[in-house]
Amino acid sequence: MTLTNSNKLTIGIFDSGVGGLSVWREIIRVLPQYNYLYLADTLYCPYGPRSRDEIIGRATSITDFLITSGASIVVVACNTATSAAISTLRKRYNIPFVGMEPAVKPAASLSKSGVIGVLATKGTLDGDLYQSNLDKYASDTKVIERVGEGLVPLVESGKADDPVTLSLLRSYLEPMIEQGADHIVLGCTHYPFLSEIIAKIVGADITIVDPAPAVARRLASVVAELNINDQIFLTRKVSDNISPELALRTKFFSTGSLQVLNDMAERILPGIPEENFIQVNV
Ligand code: DGL
Repeated sequence: MTLTNSNKLTIGIFDSGVGGLSVWREIIRVLPQYNYLYLADTLYCPYGPRSRDEIIGRATSITDFLITSGASIVVVACNTATSAAISTLRKRYNIPFVGMEPAVKPAASLSKSGVIGVLATKGTLDGDLYQSNLDKYASDTKVIERVGEGLVPLVESGKADDPVTLSLLRSYLEPMIEQGADHIVLGCTHYPFLSEIIAKIVGADITIVDPAPAVARRLASVVAELNINDQIFLTRKVSDNISPELALRTKFFSTGSLQVLNDMAERILPGIPEENFIQVNV
């Protein structure tokens, strides 16, 4: 199966669904020159309520698929899967993995009020990775956590603008605002697709923190370690003017419906051919 231009490095990305597109969107601004394979595990979405073992099983099957399809690096564009599975993936496969974690460190260090809010899935908030970040970076900060129950399915069904989404978000964010949070960490890659509504609720004095740009920079440095010739791209200014040809070099896979994946990817990068969206049984 030849999925990509074989001269270029191929980067695999996966998430439980369309959330990881918020990470891919940042990655292609920093590294527009590569091939991308994006897999949305739509059939098994959401991951939040699933057990650690189940998520490790999904992450392993998906990584096998991405490597077989040509990926040499995998971005786990899901906080919940990173928390549950990235250490197992790193032991099992001889390729680099880049993962997500809630941006507690920058939020706590920049907070003036000493209060931050973290919105994430239950799996992420219960995970060791998040807990160790709290111990390391937020021991002097009051951290108000909320599980974003119901938000992932709303984004997955294209209902980001629905009144239900607004009222759920209000109920999660108002306690953070009332207790004086000045930074709100988006600890799930689906939530940046709600950031306009979140900004309306929290107002201009509260900073919304999305770790995706930092993850894209981290990926760029991992790539640079693999291939010294790519240094030139790292020193170049982040491109806001991405070549339409990139749309031809990205394949999108879903274990379920392709519709929302297609709509959202197309909004980020117009001109992706219909045949680049493929349903798979992974
Ligand atoms: N995008 C995933 C994350 O970052 C969503 C988790 C889920 O499917 O519940 O955690």
